[in-house]
Amino acid sequence: MTYPMDLMRQWLDEEKLKGAQNAQHAVLSTQGLNGHPHGRIVAIREIEEERILFFTQKRTRKVEELKKNSTAAITFWFERSAREVMIEGDAIFLSEAENEKYWHTYPRWAQIRFLSYAPTSGLPIENKQKLEIKRNEIESDHQDTPLPLSPDYCGIYVIPKRIVFYTYRLDELSDVWEYQINETGVVKKRLSP
Ligand SMILES: Cc1cc2nc3c(=O)[nH]c(=O)nc-3n(C[C@H](O)[C@H](O)[C@H](O)COP(=O)(O)O)c2cc1C
Repeated sequence: MTYPMDLMRQWLDEEKLKGAQNAQHAVLSTQGLNGHPHGRIVAIREIEEERILFFTQKRTRKVEELKKNSTAAITFWFERSAREVMIEGDAIFLSEAENEKYWHTYPRWAQIRFLSYAPTSGLPIENKQKLEIKRNEIESDHQDTPLPLSPDYCGIYVIPKRIVFYTYRLDELSDVWEYQINETGVVKKRLSP
């Protein structure tokens, strides 16, 4: 049996080969503090054997929400292949040491952008110009020095417990496969579309 995360990577690669520029973006859904569902796009940084990693700013809602309720869903839509992958699992925050390690692999231009907007993430701002000025200042202040780790930089990974692979088909009925992952292994079932 193909391990579900191997299939996930295979579908991602196939979507990229078909020319998709944003295949690695997915909808992250969490439970809002008021109990209401809340979804947003995140860039998936790594898909490893047992975890899906993304980065965010500590002041975003997803951080507060996942601290209160660690269950999360990640949904990929691969338009070019008409495929969907739904992942449900538990979110775990990276340690500060791990955040620091990843920070130093982050491209310099992305570090500068992050440092300019992360402290006010999600808050109302008068205008964008102030943030652009800040971005230019950070860039000129650190021309010859590495950029310090932002205290707002926050990696979160989701450990999948259930993954559903859905292939939308018009030539015949759609294919739907569910993988349930627990301590004893993986249970695979075909589901009706
Ligand atoms: C293409 C795209 C990529 C994004 N990537 C990320 C990301 O990797 N991490 C992140 O926190 N927000 C990312 N965002 C912004 C989020 O969708 C969201 O608006 C923001 O993180 C606020 O989230 P919150 O609702 O949890 O406060 C991205 C948005 C777009 C449109």
